[in-house]
Amino acid sequence: MNELSLKLSVIILAAGKGTRMQSNLPKVLHHLGGQTLLERVVNTAKQLNANLYVVYGFGGEDIKNNLMHLPVQWVKQDALLGTGHAVMQVLPHLPIDHQVLVLVGDSPLVKVETLKRLIEITQNEGVGLVTTEVDDPTGLGRILHDQTGKVLEIVEEKDANTEQRKIREINSGIIIAPAKHLKTWLPNLRNNNAQEEYYLTDIIGIAAKQDIYVHSVLAESPQEVLGINDRIQLSKLERIFQKQETEKLMLQGVTFRDPNRVDLRGEVKTGIDVTIDVNVILAGKIYLGENTVIGPNCYLKNVTLGKNVEIKANTVIEDAEISDKCVIGPFARIRPETSLAEGTKVGNFVEIKKSKIGRGSKLSHLSYIGDAIIGDEVNIGAGTITCNYDGVRKHQTIIEDGAFIGSDSQLVAPITVEKGAYIGSGSTITQNAPANKLTIARARQVTIDKWKKPE
Ligand code: UD1
Ligand code: CA
Repeated sequence: MNELSLKLSVIILAAGKGTRMQSNLPKVLHHLGGQTLLERVVNTAKQLNANLYVVYGFGGEDIKNNLMHLPVQWVKQDALLGTGHAVMQVLPHLPIDHQVLVLVGDSPLVKVETLKRLIEITQNEGVGLVTTEVDDPTGLGRILHDQTGKVLEIVEEKDANTEQRKIREINSGIIIAPAKHLKTWLPNLRNNNAQEEYYLTDIIGIAAKQDIYVHSVLAESPQEVLGINDRIQLSKLERIFQKQETEKLMLQGVTFRDPNRVDLRGEVKTGIDVTIDVNVILAGKIYLGENTVIGPNCYLKNVTLGKNVEIKANTVIEDAEISDKCVIGPFARIRPETSLAEGTKVGNFVEIKKSKIGRGSKLSHLSYIGDAIIGDEVNIGAGTITCNYDGVRKHQTIIEDGAFIGSDSQLVAPITVEKGAYIGSGSTITQNAPANKLTIARARQVTIDKWKKPE
């Protein structure tokens, strides 16, 4: 397999506009499971260790800018004259001894195993394609066989006669052929068909006529090679993808209260006995430790959760590390560059940004903690605010182990509350608070005897 793939070039066709998407965005830049369609296909193709070419045209700069990080070579197709014409643009780049696999950018669910089967069966020199049988073949290329079952040609819907249109075996769009053949066949394609396009699919007929056997590989399921032409199909594929992803996780020990009501938009790794309630969105890189419970309506992006963590309803966490046994929410917001040590408790309407919170500390209600380092066993009273911004710069707040911050206090940074210090509630603290002492900074309470209610 590896030896074979050394001589493999993969071309991904992505120059079309996708008119039926009704969008300013090129079709392949629409998202499925949090990734663009093109990125999904490229990531699948990447696993083949081949040279990757993407043929782009409509919205080309957008495509390149969005996918800068992908290991591909970009080839522009200036006029959209058909799939055969698209592949022709790459011909000058293709080594003569390479096998060339063509994929379509709008079929994001294709599996690498299927591609490997096609590569293996054609043995670095044959011609082949991936087909499937569908209930409704409308719009797709039909596969024509002779009486012995040999593939003869592909007929596009618009060129097919009534009998041919009844054929339910269709072309997935995935085709493989040696570069040496493509270099002679493609320049000779003609566009005398209903769409006046140069069809890549015509090479199948050409091969058959030259007595070159055309191998066909059946996709694992029709869903695997379904293409996207409009937003209805995109939404259907999204659900198929979500079902696959949730089923993978269920087999790894995750309980979904309802797998139809979650969205997985990233790479999720988990321990066993994880429970995820409805309307949870997991994005980016996620790790969920053993026995973790995520309540309803939570959004987590790039988050690591330790073991036995409980995330209660309506919590949002981004770019954070949460250690074992933390309890967060309901209605908490943990922003980037935050880490919570073991057993931390973060309650409702608490926002934490770019802060480290020590073991067993409690921030139970209504607080803003930003640019802070908080030690172990600290108690942050309701309504505590770290005033971290002077209008120009951000400043740090340090709260050492065992400190107790009374409710409704403001800590004007830069500032340190030392070990075991107590801050009286309602204080505005502007200077460091010494260890193990009570510091209060608020106006003294007075009652005005002469006061009279206004008449
Ligand atoms: C194509 C196949 C059809 C197959 C179907 C599966 C041809 C002639 N037909 O039809 O047999 O059943 O895919 O989905 O190949 N593209 C370019 N440049 C072009 C034209 C298209 O890059 O000039 C790209 C599109 O962006 C798209 C892919 O090629 O990613 C397929 O093109 P599309 O027009 O969707 O072909 P279909 O009519 O679906
Ligand atoms: Ca298509």
